[in-house]
Amino acid sequence: MPYLDEKFAEFEHLPNEEKIKRFARNGRLYDMIISQQLTRQILEDIYQLTNKLRQVSKSKAGSVFLQGLLCHKRAMLYFTQPSSRTYLSFENACHILGMRTTEIRDPRVSSEVKGESFDDSLRTFSSYTDLIIMRHVGANMAERAAWLLNTYSNRPVPVINGGSGNDQHPTQAILDVYTLQRSFENEGGLDGKTILMCGDLKRGRTVRSLSYLMKNFEGVRIIFAAPEPFQMKEDVLDFLERQGIPYTLETRALQNVLPEAHAIYMTRIQDEHDEVVGESSRVDTSKFKLGLVDMPMIKSSAIIMHPFPRRDEIEVTIDPDPRAIYWRQERNGMWTRAALIAYIFHADEEIMNY
Ligand code: CP
Repeated sequence: MPYLDEKFAEFEHLPNEEKIKRFARNGRLYDMIISQQLTRQILEDIYQLTNKLRQVSKSKAGSVFLQGLLCHKRAMLYFTQPSSRTYLSFENACHILGMRTTEIRDPRVSSEVKGESFDDSLRTFSSYTDLIIMRHVGANMAERAAWLLNTYSNRPVPVINGGSGNDQHPTQAILDVYTLQRSFENEGGLDGKTILMCGDLKRGRTVRSLSYLMKNFEGVRIIFAAPEPFQMKEDVLDFLERQGIPYTLETRALQNVLPEAHAIYMTRIQDEHDEVVGESSRVDTSKFKLGLVDMPMIKSSAIIMHPFPRRDEIEVTIDPDPRAIYWRQERNGMWTRAALIAYIFHADEEIMNY
């Protein structure tokens, strides 16, 4: 086994608690790789910062102030898997804070096509920039990037995971919980709520990261609604059991559980992860779609979320319903990501004091 593969395998086998320590600096979040790193305090700090950023950016003077904060820093957006929202919201989040950005979005224009290893590529990116934000098809490659730079680079830079294969999408979970907290701010926040997640839960990195974040909230219950082949995997269910978070599995139809939910989180089928071409299309997903006809069944105070992109799991005829908040959820992404970057670079105090 190549030397670095062997060393990374040793790191991969460490318990998460140990990895989380390695992704921090002086007890503070540094690399953002997995949702389990995020405590309630970190989330609250980021959300307070998000609200302040939104407020400050409304004026020209405020925008100019924000753009001066990290104008001495450069970010690399290494997105070799397709993305619209995560890429654009991160790029604009960097610009809000004055960071200049460079990108590789197509692996065919990276020297990896000439045989350069992932590890050498990442070390090269860190030679020129101060932050690497990455989306990769490999489930553990953001983790590898953070481990590599922390362990071997003489110019380590923080790494933010913008989506790692079918494993995690922690910054999506940050914006999702922000959206949930804001939506329920007059009803005690997310604590005590029932969250219904529906769709391809097995391979959906957004629902996986969101489930892990529930460790920070009191009295939350999760309903996982999916056909059996797409049900949530054991690793997440085991985590929820260890954390004492109750969950139920619904495998017959979404409509059986709709009335119970305070938040309905729909997802699409992740067929880009099919191991055999066309295997997803052989699963009957017809009972796990949300249509206009279902709306009377949903609580009047419930919210409907979706990380997007969507296909046909939510009818567009639902969009005008005030309970459908996915466009707002999408916009929250840019602000929470700007707050996360500001937090990682210790610009939070200056923003809060503005
Ligand atoms: N929600 C999300 O990750 O969207 P993109 O794939 O467009 O970035």
